[in-house]
This record gives sequence, C-alpha cells and structure tokens, in this order.
Amino acid sequence: MPSAPRPSLLRNWLSLTGLVIGIGSLFSFFLLFLLDALATFSNPYIGILTYLVAPGFLILGLGLTFIGALRERRKLGQARGAIPLMVVDLSRPRDRRIMGVFITGSLVFLLLTAMGSYHTYHFSESVQFCGQTCHTVMKPELVTYEHGPHARVSCTECHIGKGATWFVRSKLSGTYQLYATTFDKYPRPVPTPIKNLRPAQETCEQCHWPKKFVGKLERTFNYFLGDATNSPYTLSLLMNVGGADPTHGPEGGIHWHMNVKNRVEYLATDEARQKIPWVRIVDPQGVVTEFRTKNFTNEISPDQVRRMDCMDCHNRPAHMYKTPSDAVNLAISLNAIDRTLPWIKTNAVYVLTREYQNETEATEGIATTLANRYPSERDTPRLKQAIAAVQTIYRDNFFPEMKASWKVYPDNIGHKNWPGCFRCHDGKHVAADSKRSIKASDCNTCHTILAQGAGADLLKLTSGGQEFKHPGGDYDPSCTDCHSADQQ
Ligand code: HEC
Ligand code: HEC
Ligand code: HEC
Ligand code: HEC
Ligand code: HEC
Ligand code: HEC
Repeated sequence: MPSAPRPSLLRNWLSLTGLVIGIGSLFSFFLLFLLDALATFSNPYIGILTYLVAPGFLILGLGLTFIGALRERRKLGQARGAIPLMVVDLSRPRDRRIMGVFITGSLVFLLLTAMGSYHTYHFSESVQFCGQTCHTVMKPELVTYEHGPHARVSCTECHIGKGATWFVRSKLSGTYQLYATTFDKYPRPVPTPIKNLRPAQETCEQCHWPKKFVGKLERTFNYFLGDATNSPYTLSLLMNVGGADPTHGPEGGIHWHMNVKNRVEYLATDEARQKIPWVRIVDPQGVVTEFRTKNFTNEISPDQVRRMDCMDCHNRPAHMYKTPSDAVNLAISLNAIDRTLPWIKTNAVYVLTREYQNETEATEGIATTLANRYPSERDTPRLKQAIAAVQTIYRDNFFPEMKASWKVYPDNIGHKNWPGCFRCHDGKHVAADSKRSIKASDCNTCHTILAQGAGADLLKLTSGGQEFKHPGGDYDPSCTDCHSADQQ
C-alpha cells in the first residue's frame, strides 16, 4: 500500500532561513577556499573568513533548520495526533533513492568537516593568524621577526612546539589572548619573559644541535662617532663561541654553558631576569659550586631556580629591536645615509630618541626636524634619502602604539646596552669556599679584539688580541653605566 506523502518538516520559516544560510555559507566556503588556494597574495582575512566564519555560519544554518523541523514536527503532531514512526523499507525504490542521497550527503559533509577542521587547525597555527590578524598587538613582534634570521620559522615552532600538552596549554592561553585583544585588555608593551614558553630543548634544539662545535666566529662592528665628520670606528672581534661536547671539538668557550655536560643554574630577583645574585654549577662528577653576590644571603627555594638554556643568552633570536645608535651605524655603513652630511649620526640618533604618540607623528617629526637642521640642504637628494632611511629605521624598530622598542626588551647576548653576560660575569659573584669569582674583567675571556679604529690603525691585525680603545674616551668596564636604556 503506497503511503500518503508526508508533509515536509522543512516547510517553515525557521528551517527555510536555516537552509538559505547553510547553503549560502557552503557556497562561500567553496569560493573562499578556491581563492585561498589559487591566490598568489596572502590576506589574513581570507583565512579567517574561510576557516572560521564560513563554517560557523554553516553550523548555524544547519542548527536552525533542525530546530525548525523539530518545532514543525511538534506542531503537526498536535494537529493530527501522533506522527507514525518513520518506516524505511529498502524494497521500495523511493526509500532506496532517499537512502542513497542521505549516505552520499553524509559522506560529503563528513569529508568537508574533516577538511575544514584540518584547515582551521593549520590556520590557527599560521604566522598569518599569530602575527597579522590582531595587527596592532602583534605588530612589533611580527615586524622585528620578519627582519630577523628566523623569518622562515613559523611563530609556533618557538612558541608552541610539538606535543599535545603544550598545544592545549597554548590554545588555552590563546583563547584568553583573543579575549584580551577583543576587549582591549592587553598590556602595552606585551610582557616578557613569556611564562608558558617551552624549554629550549623542545624548541631551539629541534633545529639547532647543542653538541655542534662552533669554534671562533668573527664579528665586525662598524661604528660612526657623534662628531661633525661622523668619524668611522671599526671593531673586529673574534668571538670564542667554542663548544660543549668533547666528541666534536675542545670543550669550553661561550657555549660551555650549553648544558651538554655542566649544569648552570641561577636565581633572578626580578621578572625580566636582569638581576642575578646567585649562580650554581654542577659539573659532570656532581661537584657543586655556588656563587653569590656580597649582600645576598637569602635561602634558596628550588622552585625559584632556573636552569640556564639557550634563551638566557639568545633571548631575542626572532624579535630584535635595534638601538638608535646601532641602526644608524648600520644605515651609514650601507650608504643608506650619506656620511658626508655633517653631524648626521648625532642628528639621526636625536630624532629617533624623541617621544612620539604614534607612527604618523614620528614620520612627520623626523622629516621636519631633520629638514630644519639642514636648511642649506633643503630638497637635495642626499637629505631626502637620509630622512627616508631614518623613517624606515623608526618603523622597523619603534612601535609607539604598543610602547615597544629596544628600551623595554632586554637583549642578553652582549654587555653594552644591557647587563647581558655581566649579570654573572661582573666579578662580584664569589664562591663561598674558594673565594674565586666567576671569570670577569679579563676582556679576552669571551672575545679577542683583532683590529680596531680607522685607517692605518685598522690594518694592524693582532691575532693575540689588543686592548680595547674606547671611542668615547675614558671608560669603566661597566658599560651599562653610560650605554643603557635609562641613560638615553
Ligand atoms: C626563533 C624562535 C621564535 C620565533 C620564530 C618567534 N618567536 Fe616570539 N619570542 C621568542 C622568544 C625567545 C621570546 C622571548 C621569550 C622570553 O624572554 O621569555 C619571544 C617573545 C615574543 C613575545 C613577547 C613580547 C616580546 O617581544 O618579548 C610575543 C608577543 C611574540 N614573541 C610573538 C611572536 C609572533 C607573533 C611570532 C611570529 C610572527 C613569533 N613570536 C615568532 C622566540 C620566537
Ligand atoms: C624550525 C627551526 C628553528 C628553530 C625552532 C630555531 N631556529 Fe635558530 N635558526 C634556524 C635557521 C635555519 C637559522 C639560520 C638562518 C640563516 O642563516 O639564514 C637559524 C639561526 C640562528 C642563530 C644565528 C643567528 C644569526 O644572526 O646568524 C641563532 C643564534 C639561533 N638561530 C638561535 C635560536 C634559538 C635561541 C632558538 C629557540 C628560541 C632557535 N634558534 C630556534 C632555525 C631554527
Ligand atoms: C652563555 C650564553 C649562551 C648560551 C647559553 C648559548 N649561546 Fe649560542 N651563542 C652565544 C654567543 C655570545 C654567540 C656568538 C655570536 C654573537 O656574538 O652573536 C653564540 C652563537 C650561536 C650561534 C651562531 C653560530 C653561527 O655559526 O653563527 C648559534 C646558532 C647558537 N649560538 C645557538 C645556540 C643554541 C641552540 C643554544 C642552546 C642549546 C645556545 N646557543 C646557547 C651565547 C650563548
Ligand atoms: C647565569 C649566569 C651566567 C650568565 C648570564 C653567563 N655566564 Fe658565562 N659562566 C657562568 C659560570 C658560573 C661560569 C663558570 C665560571 C667558573 O667556573 O669560573 C661561566 C663561564 C664562562 C666562560 C668560560 C668557559 C670555560 O671555558 O671554562 C665563558 C667564555 C663565558 N662564561 C661566557 C659567557 C658569555 C659570553 C655570556 C653572555 C652571552 C655569559 N657567559 C653569560 C655563568 C654565567
Ligand atoms: C663574559 C664574556 C665577555 C666578557 C668578559 C667581555 N665581553 Fe665584550 N662582548 C661579549 C659578547 C657576548 C658580546 C656581543 C657580541 C655580539 O653582539 O654579537 C660582546 C661585545 C663587545 C663589544 C661590542 C659591543 C657592541 O654591541 O657594539 C665591545 C666593544 C666589547 N665587547 C668590549 C669588551 C671589553 C672592553 C671587555 C672587558 C672589560 C669585554 N668586552 C669583556 C662578551 C664578553
Ligand atoms: C663613562 C661612560 C661610558 C662607559 C662606562 C662606557 N662608554 Fe662607551 N661611549 C661613551 C660615550 C660618551 C660614547 C660616545 C662617543 C661618540 O659617539 O662620539 C661612547 C661610545 C662607544 C662606542 C662607539 C659608538 C657607537 O656608535 O656605539 C662603543 C662601541 C662603546 N662606547 C663601547 C663601550 C663598551 C663596550 C663599554 C664597556 C666595556 C663602554 N663603552 C663603556 C661612554 C661610555
């Protein structure tokens, strides 16, 4: 007996609206997906629309359709008495057809969901999502990252790494960050150190092999002094990086702290880990040596102790904020700023150290101040080029909207602008028993000066090392007394 056609449960406003939304978003998903796959440009919003917004609307549409159908079913039931249970009879061609359509439909839907979630997952891990989507907040980190040596390493390889627990932790803190960004609750500048950053073993050491013997590295610094002629002063340092594993080269040098054999631990009394009054080394035989500064007598509780790793020295491998002086030195050495402009080093550093409210104000301020300092150069190509170069330096290293610059993010690799190595190697950390201190004042422990100065002086290469001739006249080994952020 052929059954009477059942009234469609979808024939109600809610379900119809749901269907329109669902089909519409499915269609836009396909369109956006094609665009994302084929386009040569990268736009973070396409990612958000394709993998977050469109699937959201699809689910909303399906949900509405379903709720509408449920309500319709109840209404019909009240009007006509209980609706008979659905009977599926595969011997009927109509039922077979419906069943076929249903199974194919479900398979396609499952496939799409799988593809969608895969892409949503990948998208939430991408540099686009981390760096570009909330552009003001992450702009300083993204811009400095793009100019650093890790510009091809994605944010997540350092900030999340592999493995489920860290993934969940990062997604949880990520959810909070999304909330903080949306409601403008984030701190400026974004604070470091990051508490839930993974240990270096699981990030840096996935690519960098800690046992590698680096040996000696040559580093040349090109300075220009703050006088009328912007006198050049060059310094060639041989960095004694060394290595930490005897099977690959002599042990010792700077990478001795790599923890391959020795364990170096320390305690910092401030968040930024700039003040280190206590250090302990445990050698391969288990012999412990403790170093303390004179006035530090506190008890040491184990949860305050941090084991030293790559990031205690290389804490800015990706986000490097140059100091005004370093950035201008580089630009002059590359001829992006003409060295024959009198006092240009001093003037360029001066405009970069002013306070500006935002980037637009800075760009204009730099142009007017520099133009006023060189009235006779008005509109010459070399002044225009210098102004443009200084503006670029500003945009790449200073972010007034986020209050981010070299001044707020310590760089621990040297000792000139931040205490860096001298947090421990300042001669003030003494071992209780032997009264010896962590190697310090000898300027040749970590590097030797091969050549320095300008002209004929620079040609005198001394392999045994020279004594440092400070370009600023008399100096004290504590460089940060004059060169740190609060002195400028
Ligand atoms: C090579 C590894 C590496 C990569 C790649 C990387 N970071 Fe970082 N990032 C770090 C380290 C190390 C710190 C400082 C950690 C500390 O001192 O606690 C940091 C700090 C930060 C901070 C805190 C503020 C600051 O400047 O100190 C933010 C925000 C950040 N990174 C975002 C990003 C974003 C967004 C990307 C991708 C565009 C990215 N990072 C790529 C290693 C990396
Ligand atoms: C996904 C792989 C990867 C990860 C993770 C990674 N690096 Fe690197 N790193 C590289 C590559 C590749 C280079 C070489 C870049 C070049 O020379 O073009 C590099 C270069 C460097 C350099 C030399 C920089 C220079 O100025 O020449 C240092 C130092 C460094 N990385 C430290 C770190 C630290 C510290 C971490 C952890 C926070 C880290 N890296 C994480 C791949 C990685
Ligand atoms: C005690 C501080 C310190 C620690 C800890 C440390 N490094 Fe270094 N590393 C240095 C210094 C200083 C240099 C010399 C380069 C420079 O002056 O920029 C250097 C150089 C490097 C270079 C560049 C080598 C090249 O050929 O250009 C890499 C890569 C590197 N370190 C990776 C690491 C990794 C990975 C770790 C952790 C396993 C680590 N370092 C731990 C201080 C340190
Ligand atoms: C947390 C404290 C700490 C920091 C920060 C630190 N060091 Fe050390 N370093 C030590 C200790 C402790 C020793 C062992 C001293 C000893 O036995 O006299 C040491 C030893 C050394 C040695 C001698 C290794 C050998 O061959 O025996 C060199 C070179 C060195 N450090 C360079 C550096 C450089 C460069 C930096 C900065 C990039 C730095 N250190 C930062 C604690 C530190
Ligand atoms: C504990 C190891 C260590 C000791 C001791 C040390 N230095 Fe350095 N020095 C470094 C490191 C690391 C750098 C950074 C190299 C870099 O930026 O790549 C550096 C950089 C420098 C620079 C270049 C600074 C810049 O950023 O432009 C000068 C100049 C210098 N040192 C002079 C000295 C003098 C003078 C002494 C003795 C008072 C001394 N150093 C002692 C580790 C050391
Ligand atoms: C008493 C203050 C003082 C101390 C301490 C000091 N400097 Fe300087 N330094 C100066 C001044 C002032 C200049 C400016 C010279 C100029 O540009 O005409 C200067 C210039 C320099 C320059 C070249 C200019 C440039 O573009 O960066 C270097 C490199 C330098 N100092 C390194 C160091 C190092 C390394 C130490 C620690 C070992 C140190 N200074 C300690 C005051 C000091």
